[in-house]
Amino acid sequence: MSAPLIDGFGRLHDNLRISVTDRCNIRCFYCMPETGVKFMPRGELLTFEEIERVARIAAELGITKIRVTGGEPLLRRGLPVLIERLMQVPGIRDLALTTNAVLLEEFAPALYDAGLRRLNIHLDTLDRARFQQITRRDDLPAVLRGINAARRLGFGPIKINVVAVKDLIEPDLVPMARYCRENGFEPRFIEFMPLDAQHLWERGRVLTADQMIETLSREIAPLLPVRDADPRAPATEYRYADGGGSVGFIASVTKPFCLNCNRLRLTSEGKLRYCLFAIEEADVRTLLRGGGTDAQIADCIRGNVKEKWLGHEINSSRFVAPPRPMYSIGG
Ligand code: 5AD
Ligand code: SF4
Repeated sequence: MSAPLIDGFGRLHDNLRISVTDRCNIRCFYCMPETGVKFMPRGELLTFEEIERVARIAAELGITKIRVTGGEPLLRRGLPVLIERLMQVPGIRDLALTTNAVLLEEFAPALYDAGLRRLNIHLDTLDRARFQQITRRDDLPAVLRGINAARRLGFGPIKINVVAVKDLIEPDLVPMARYCRENGFEPRFIEFMPLDAQHLWERGRVLTADQMIETLSREIAPLLPVRDADPRAPATEYRYADGGGSVGFIASVTKPFCLNCNRLRLTSEGKLRYCLFAIEEADVRTLLRGGGTDAQIADCIRGNVKEKWLGHEINSSRFVAPPRPMYSIGG
């Protein structure tokens, strides 16, 4: 194998997140505007062949984990075919999909047959009116059917992403945690980050991990930190003292984990980003479509990792929100 992907701060990169579309079928307010979203023209998207090629070259550079994201990845036609191909890339040991589950009932069997097992499902509330308020769509019943279908088929682990917006999701915190506990899912509460298209983010709208741990410990059962958790995973793991499962907190704002970052991102139109909040990007698509060799593409990936900064500066006055919102980066 070629030299591993180590950045200027000694961080090893073995994790690639691939966005397959910037489209979405719902409109979560902390990500997308309600109307007037400009999506990428289809011809700009990397083809499955192109994505697979980048994944193969990245795997030769030491990438072992891939997460497929969007927008909403199930809107990309034929996604299970891509999943099947990515599962076969030599060196990839772990493949996961992040989805809002609106279309999951329909696609779960094909995804399962393609070999996928790990799912992260984005869901903030079990209340239909609140779901509609947050996502501007009335799709909660479809999401719940999708989750049930996935569970019945045997997907696992199933993690549920909840975006923690203060003065909004407090009433959902305990019901979401209970729902996960009862169904064997792991909730992951993600601090609201300044990645929304409408720039509504304010520090005062972040429900912090500490506040959530306090509430869940009081209302459900004491939460204890998991000692041997993977230090490079973005979520800090806790488990209930009564053995009722675990809970993850992604404290991007109050406890940035940039020092342990092992992630690179490939956008749906073939730009490499070394950080969610990156301003610069490397253009892989031009190489892919301009006759670039595998070695040139590998150099492009290496170059992007070399340029990686120490971390986002959400907590400093120097912070600049990235020009792209979440749906076009692929959380
Ligand atoms: N802040 C934090 N998390 C967000 N997500 C989307 N927008 C934001 C935001 N502004 C989460 C969603 C999605 C994951 C990829 O990112 O939960 O599942
Ligand atoms: Fe769609 Fe995910 Fe953005 Fe919600 S957070 S609008 S599900 S891409």
